[in-house]
Amino acid sequence: MDKIRIRGGRPLEGRIAISGAKNAALPLLTASLLTDEALVLRNLPHLADIATMTHLLAQHGTDLSMAGAHPGGGHMGQVLELRAGDITSTEAPYDIVRKMRASVLVLGPLLARCGQARVSLPGGCAIGTRPVDMHIRGLEALGAEIELDDGYIVARAPGGLRGGTVVFPRVSVGATENLLMAATLAKGEVVLENAAREPEVGDLANCLNAMGARIEGIGGDTLHIQGVDRLHGADYAVLPDRIEAATYAIAAAITGGKVELLGAQSSTMEAVAAALGQANVSLRPTECGVMVECGNSGGGSSGGGDRWVHSIDVSTAPYPGFPTDLQAQMMALMAMADGASMITETIFENRFQHVPELMRMGADITVKGATAMVRGRGGPGGPGLHGAPVMATDLRASVSLVLAGLAAEGETIVNRVYHLDRGYERLEEKLSGCGADIERLTA
Ligand code: UD1
Repeated sequence: MDKIRIRGGRPLEGRIAISGAKNAALPLLTASLLTDEALVLRNLPHLADIATMTHLLAQHGTDLSMAGAHPGGGHMGQVLELRAGDITSTEAPYDIVRKMRASVLVLGPLLARCGQARVSLPGGCAIGTRPVDMHIRGLEALGAEIELDDGYIVARAPGGLRGGTVVFPRVSVGATENLLMAATLAKGEVVLENAAREPEVGDLANCLNAMGARIEGIGGDTLHIQGVDRLHGADYAVLPDRIEAATYAIAAAITGGKVELLGAQSSTMEAVAAALGQANVSLRPTECGVMVECGNSGGGSSGGGDRWVHSIDVSTAPYPGFPTDLQAQMMALMAMADGASMITETIFENRFQHVPELMRMGADITVKGATAMVRGRGGPGGPGLHGAPVMATDLRASVSLVLAGLAAEGETIVNRVYHLDRGYERLEEKLSGCGADIERLTA
């Protein structure tokens, strides 16, 4: 199994190209099941999760072809043409769904287009139990008959789905996306209340509208969808990955560096920019993306001002709040800040698995329930972190260890790199391009 070796202590300086958003690309890929015409998706990231999703779609009968490279070379995002002319299978098997929970996003499109679907229950995962009850209840409100059979969600809507109002009891990105896709082909109007407002949901809605759907209220918490008889093909580019961008912003901050995030959209990063601003890290829009600089409050590198990362308190929340997908990375940064910080996780019940690993690197963290108290080891005279062999259990936890490794003294080996490959495209190349001493050790 591959590992990543980091020798820490080098400030990152340079530019990093931000890839297309994984969490937008996955539902956009499943939207191809809603039409028999071709959906062309541009700016798709090269990631293991994207490969898993295309594998699942091919298994439903979708024809996939590379539709040419992005001008400027092979690293600029792939272009795929997907054509689900005939759906040959409406079953999403356990073997694929267990690898990636987002597979459950085929449920809404299959049910809407074919009137039936059999999708494996995803089960738990490292960060919590992650049920899909809201997906099921929502589809039932649109007339679907659903039962659970042998670990599978078996859904039927022989006469098609109908209009209705779904009030989500709590905000769910995946349930909103599943319902949104299902609603496009319903008979009548569907209203989704307390819908997730994540930019990735908006990206999906915009693509669906480009395919002929009639969705209003995009970006808000109430979505109105007038069902249409059929959707058609479209050509759509995936939005830039705000989580990847913010992860590299934290990489710049934790090493006291300065990095321009090419293609990053500051409008989708406001909560992160506000939090980092309080921590003495500035994010400002440029012509090509976002510039991140540590310690700008004292006038930048030439101003001789305060260049330390300051401790702040952070609580995760649905968009536009601080994303749970950046909680682990923020904790790594706070481990190198100049004081005490409280980090509260409100979305997932078991998302502190990076804590013991960060502690192996010298971090001082105490967890009480959903809150972690981090006593920073940075600042003037702070002891800092030290390198260590570490291992992680999920995607964002793994990258938090890479971030800590970039700031730590000595060598860090991150094991189980396959977690990183699910969500970070060419991570070691992007970081080494800015001066980090990082390499992949292939087993
Ligand atoms: C998506 C993201 C993931 C991110 C998460 C929260 C993708 C592919 N993944 O995951 O990276 O961390 O949003 O921003 O986009 N819940 C229920 N019942 C349900 C559905 C969800 O109780 O039917 C709970 C979950 O357990 C969790 C909370 O709702 O506690 C939010 O989960 P949700 O927004 O659905 O996350 P995902 O869509 O799975």
